[in-house]
Amino acid sequence: MKTLIVYETEYGNTEKLARAMAEALSEHGEARATSVAGISSLDHHDADLLIVGSPTQRHGLPSGIRDKLDGVPKGRLKNMAALAFDTRYPGSRWITGSAARKIHRILRDLGCRLLAPPESFFVAGEQGPLEPGEEDRARAWVLRSLGRTQRETLR
Ligand SMILES: Cc1cc2nc3c(=O)[nH]c(=O)nc-3n(C[C@H](O)[C@H](O)[C@H](O)COP(=O)(O)O)c2cc1C
Repeated sequence: MKTLIVYETEYGNTEKLARAMAEALSEHGEARATSVAGISSLDHHDADLLIVGSPTQRHGLPSGIRDKLDGVPKGRLKNMAALAFDTRYPGSRWITGSAARKIHRILRDLGCRLLAPPESFFVAGEQGPLEPGEEDRARAWVLRSLGRTQRETLR
């Protein structure tokens, strides 16, 4: 299984999680974490699983991820297995907003097969650091989602 993790980051916290996920997934196949700034588009790749993550900013998505998602032609990601995550302040998403929910919705509208609900990971302040245990939680989250994929494949 080939996984592509595309992340946006301002202070490095979302990148740390993307790298932790890639490390965990690399035991199950090829996994690459890449900055959204380093790719020309989201739809020209040969991954089996696409994971998209970004910080929550102003209750929503920063522009790098939004522009790349907006640039995907309708149907191009049809049936692509996908997951969405964000980093944000702890607490209710009704108060903080959640980029992951918006990414999840956009990916679903593009035809992706979302393997799990959107997930948030927490920072202690605007620049971080990540709250204790969040990298481990990110590793566990992708592996759990991958487990679902494997069960789906066997079905
Ligand atoms: C301009 C700006 C707006 C932000 N707005 C929110 C917000 O609405 N809700 C929230 O939970 N966090 C907000 N944050 C905090 C970010 O989520 C935090 O900086 C991010 O998770 C850190 O991830 P990064 O190191 O990958 O950039 C904001 C941060 C910035 C810089």
